[in-house]
Amino acid sequence: MTSSEHDVLVIGGGVAGLSLALELADERRVTLLRPVSDDHGASRWAQGGIAAVLSPQDDIQAHVQDTLNAGDGLCDEATVRFTVTQGPAAIEWLVTLGVPFTPDTSPQAPYPFHLTREGGHGARRVIHAADATGRALIDTLLEHVARHPGITVRQDVNVIELIGDATGHCRGAYGLTTHGKLETLQANDTVLATGGASGLFQHTTSPVPACGEGMIMAAELGATLMNLEFQQFHPTCLYDPTGSPFLISEALRGEGGILRNLDGHRFMPAIDPRAELAPRDIVARAIDAEMQRRHSQHVLLDMTHLPAETLRKLFPTIHAHCLARGLDITREPIPVVPAAHYSCGGVATDHHGATRVPHLYAIGEVACTGLHGANRMASNSLLECLVFARAAAQALRKPKPGSLAPVKTPSFSRCHAQVEPAALGELLADTRRTMSRNAGIVRHDTGLSEAAATLHDLVARCRYLWQRHIPSNELAKVCRAVRLAELTVDAARRRRESRGLHYNRDCPEHANGSAKPSFSYLDAFADH
Ligand code: SIN
Repeated sequence: MTSSEHDVLVIGGGVAGLSLALELADERRVTLLRPVSDDHGASRWAQGGIAAVLSPQDDIQAHVQDTLNAGDGLCDEATVRFTVTQGPAAIEWLVTLGVPFTPDTSPQAPYPFHLTREGGHGARRVIHAADATGRALIDTLLEHVARHPGITVRQDVNVIELIGDATGHCRGAYGLTTHGKLETLQANDTVLATGGASGLFQHTTSPVPACGEGMIMAAELGATLMNLEFQQFHPTCLYDPTGSPFLISEALRGEGGILRNLDGHRFMPAIDPRAELAPRDIVARAIDAEMQRRHSQHVLLDMTHLPAETLRKLFPTIHAHCLARGLDITREPIPVVPAAHYSCGGVATDHHGATRVPHLYAIGEVACTGLHGANRMASNSLLECLVFARAAAQALRKPKPGSLAPVKTPSFSRCHAQVEPAALGELLADTRRTMSRNAGIVRHDTGLSEAAATLHDLVARCRYLWQRHIPSNELAKVCRAVRLAELTVDAARRRRESRGLHYNRDCPEHANGSAKPSFSYLDAFADH
């Protein structure tokens, strides 16, 4: 095993990781681990934009209230207020960096950049770069990161476990290089920016979804996981059985898109007065119910009543992608289906991204700050990435003394036997099937119990493989995915109510009394 020393180790190169690296690198040396696969992470696929109070016709309290409403009683109000208040400064920072946001050229424009609307928002407050905001952000941030002398980007290493010491502090990470060598990356401070866990499900909005690896790695060191049962399904992924997953942004509904069933009937107004712009949990459930009722594989998102020129201008990426798949969105409705999109739960952190484990931070989708509660409002996630990356950087500017306690032995095996890739593929496929069938948009007690039993067996198989085989990226990923799936189902079974994204038809109402977050903890794999 080789060894290297780092000051701040950032694991993950999406919007959160890149922003933190840039904000911190004037004061501390940053090593950013950004394996090539990170370039296909959720950030790059984000289409809609970033929610923030930018128009003089909007106000902080309105954004706070919309977020609280979407979160269905489970948001932490102080976190919501903190995030929303920091929003405009975060956007200003991005404008200074040169992110090419879409300008608003109309003479009555309240703000120099175009602001769109999405579900749950009572006002136009989503700033965007056409319909490829994530790509624009990543490209701009990467350009600055590449030029900063204080940041070393390493693409040749993938983390498989965090390093803990005898006093419970985080001391860096173990990684596997692209040449298959184990490397100990010791660090004074470690930041997880590894994304969410939508990859636990069969159908996702991202082609290469994370499977909650960072969440489980943090939990293995003693971090608290929070609200795992709240998995968001985006209402509108392109229904394209032979193509790769492709998101159809909520901004299309923000600009007037109408959801219809296959008979052409508009179904949302009967379900919620906000119709197509109700929060995502409500729209996804309505689509799911419509598909069940009609035994259909998808519903339709109709944009054909809007001027073709507006669609091409506001949604060039979606227009071009659909055209390449044989669909002209200016003339035909778009077949859409809900797909796993965002994990509202994750590693519990404070307002600076600090976890319960000293020297371990978590930012972006891997974290659970309390902002999203039981259901994230559209475009609040990039906002959270930016605000918490900047806040964590602020906390990290003053290093706290490290620990000198001996480092614990890693949990992975030193055996040389290799696991068959096909066996790992099967384990992940079983996990995804189980989660999609029993822990998806609509849940029930029997399905959750079945899932718990299946996942219990899968965890036992993973433990066996982990203890007796040489670690590989795929083995680490699958073992962590299975364990997170088990914790997610456990959290769903413990919540004896329906709230936000967690809908159990055996307990369809809110529980009496005030809403409470759920907490999950993990034993070390070796003692599990
Ligand atoms: C979208 O464009 O609909 C996705 C944006 C988000 O998930 O916030």
